[in-house]
Amino acid sequence: MLKVFRGELLHFLADPAKVPLQESYQYIEDGLLVIENGLVAKIGEFAELFSTLPADIEITHYQKGLIIPGFIDTHVHYPQTEMIASYGEQLLEWLESYTFPFERQFSDLEHGKKVAEFFLDQLLDAGTTTALVFGTVHKESVEAFFTIAQQKKLRMICGKVLMDQNCPDYLSDTAQSGYDDSKALIEKWHNTDRLQYAITPRFAPTCSTEQLNKAGQLLAENPSVYLHTHLSENKAEISWVKDLFPDSDGYLDVYDQSKLLGRRSIFAHGVHLHDSECQRLSETDSAIAFCPSSNLFLGSGLFNLKQAQAHNVNVGLGSDIGAGTTFSMLSTINEGYKTQQLRGDKLGPFQSFYLATLGGAIALDLEGTIGNFTQGAEADFVVLDCHATPLMARRMSHCKNLSEKLFILSMLGDERHVKSTYIMGEKVDNKA
Ligand code: GUN
Ligand code: ZN
Repeated sequence: MLKVFRGELLHFLADPAKVPLQESYQYIEDGLLVIENGLVAKIGEFAELFSTLPADIEITHYQKGLIIPGFIDTHVHYPQTEMIASYGEQLLEWLESYTFPFERQFSDLEHGKKVAEFFLDQLLDAGTTTALVFGTVHKESVEAFFTIAQQKKLRMICGKVLMDQNCPDYLSDTAQSGYDDSKALIEKWHNTDRLQYAITPRFAPTCSTEQLNKAGQLLAENPSVYLHTHLSENKAEISWVKDLFPDSDGYLDVYDQSKLLGRRSIFAHGVHLHDSECQRLSETDSAIAFCPSSNLFLGSGLFNLKQAQAHNVNVGLGSDIGAGTTFSMLSTINEGYKTQQLRGDKLGPFQSFYLATLGGAIALDLEGTIGNFTQGAEADFVVLDCHATPLMARRMSHCKNLSEKLFILSMLGDERHVKSTYIMGEKVDNKA
């Protein structure tokens, strides 16, 4: 019932961009994390808490590990796992050439289960414990994903893709069948164990107005489900949306007119947003998934984090596998840092670890449930190893403070530096 971990503890309490840095996090050099029935009971200094514990309690001591909440990936496609690293195209051609043919295979439930198993193990190896996940147009893809995620006791959000135009016939639903299939999946899976549903229109170009309106209707009928889609990722995509929806006042407005914005709405990318769109995302409490690895890989552009922050928009980090090239949130931070360098902006180490943990939880409206070690939160956490590789160990020997430690971890780190991943206080045993 009671599990106790000793080590260096770090978690966030608020956004370092919004409060004085020292108030944004709690860092305990020699701390105890006490877990009861899979939930955080308390954290504190070892010296203070130890005497309050039962005398015979067993303590797992990570001498060199940094214990932080599990990473949160706010945008990823599990069916694209096996097509990661497909060469040479930008978004629209990449979808046609690689993505659509690959997604076709997910009409087969057993295929979906095999890929979901592998995908979730990759996430866990990388220290990611919660993700907002695209399925394919097939309801079987979501059935497969939730079945495996449930077996692994994970907190996961997934949905069936809606697309009824500008896509191959073999991947097309209709406004009505998309609504019916999504509704049935919501009834079966939403809030079952730790699973939640996201209504998932692929993006405006592949959805008729009728389909988007039906998605809005379904969201109104089920206010606790999520809305997950793509937004303003690529310039050719944006001008296509303008042609397809001449009556809308920009890309975001297409979704807005169908009543798709809100506290549980997450828009992937948002690389090319106008101030007025950031304003609208902010006033509706919608969130953006910042996917730097994908944005660089597909040549989509450099996300303007400063603009989103200036408008107080919720932002999380996303791997966007298979357009992104890494499952690791450490590597994703690395790519994010470089995108901001190219803009002439700085993504600081506290800010980036915030985005990968509590920022993601807030973007998903799951603050208090995951993302930090607040009392009662689900105890999904990771132990990072600053000495897992010779280069990391050597660089760390010159490290002067926590800020530098986080920066080095995120510039040189990846799956190899995730020593252990814990789900509800239980160690995941498939870590390599
Ligand atoms: N826009 C619409 N579909 C997709 C997709 O599968 N990946 C990315 N990166 N963008 C999209
Ligand atoms: Zn995507």
